[in-house]
Amino acid sequence: MEVIAARDEFRKATSAVRAAGSRLGLVPTMGAFHEGHMSLLRAAASSCDVVAASIFVNPLQFSSASDLARYPANLERDLAMAQAVGVGLLFAPPVSEMYPGGEPETRVEPGALADRLEGASRPGHFAGVATVVTKLLSLCGGCRAFFGEKDFQQLAVVRQLVADLDLDAEIVSCPTVREPDGLACSSRNRRLGAGDRRAAAVLSKALGAGRAALATGARRSAEVEATMAAVVAAEPRARLDYAVVVDPVTFESPASLAGELRLLIAAHVGPVRLIDNLGVET
Ligand code: PAJ
Repeated sequence: MEVIAARDEFRKATSAVRAAGSRLGLVPTMGAFHEGHMSLLRAAASSCDVVAASIFVNPLQFSSASDLARYPANLERDLAMAQAVGVGLLFAPPVSEMYPGGEPETRVEPGALADRLEGASRPGHFAGVATVVTKLLSLCGGCRAFFGEKDFQQLAVVRQLVADLDLDAEIVSCPTVREPDGLACSSRNRRLGAGDRRAAAVLSKALGAGRAALATGARRSAEVEATMAAVVAAEPRARLDYAVVVDPVTFESPASLAGELRLLIAAHVGPVRLIDNLGVET
């Protein structure tokens, strides 16, 4: 595995892979690998000849300096895990390499999709994500790029930016990997104390209750949303941010509860804000 810190070296290495006629997969991450990341790396390895992964904790997408400072990092462990699943190129630039002039003057501003839900709770977050993903895809060049459904709104923002800006990437989505109790794997989970960790299963439980409400004939979004909210309200360690049912393309409230829907939830459990989602076909 080649570990690369400089942008021009990453560009050269990825160009060489394509020039050799090999199919390149890119897995953008912020490191602190868990099974969710590993599933993306394995998916890339199974459908591409060479896998490139990036590890970069992108300051632009954090709204508070303390959230950024608390983000877990363990580069040595990540490198060993990446090597074990066959990553060929590991791009791990320092902030001064990605943003040599400080915060960039030019940013990628996603559309209305990014103003709702996570975008409303975390102003500027998706512009930060869209800017760094655009840079990574531009440095990497033509590739298949793998993203998790765990961050369902991020996935939609990335698909939109690739379409709008004609970026040379085929976006592949991968299902959410969960702990045995249903909690979606996340780097933030390791900040949960034992009691909060047990309580955090409430997010996936609420999604399950929302799905059950739809399966048993709920007619209005408000009913489904109230069902999910009630599950979270019964857990004293959790505080709900939102629990909604949306159209999976527009992220608006669905015109009718028929066809494909997405349940999305965000809640604080102890000191940590967690998100999760579930696809439902009615
Ligand atoms: P990060 O949180 O490290 O996630 C990297 C990728 O792993 C994302 O595509 C995310 O959706 C996926 N992922 C995280 N948890 C997952 C899980 N439990 N199951 C499946 N996939 C999961 O998302 C980011 O980094 C950043 O915003 C990034 C796209 C790298 C831009 O900075």
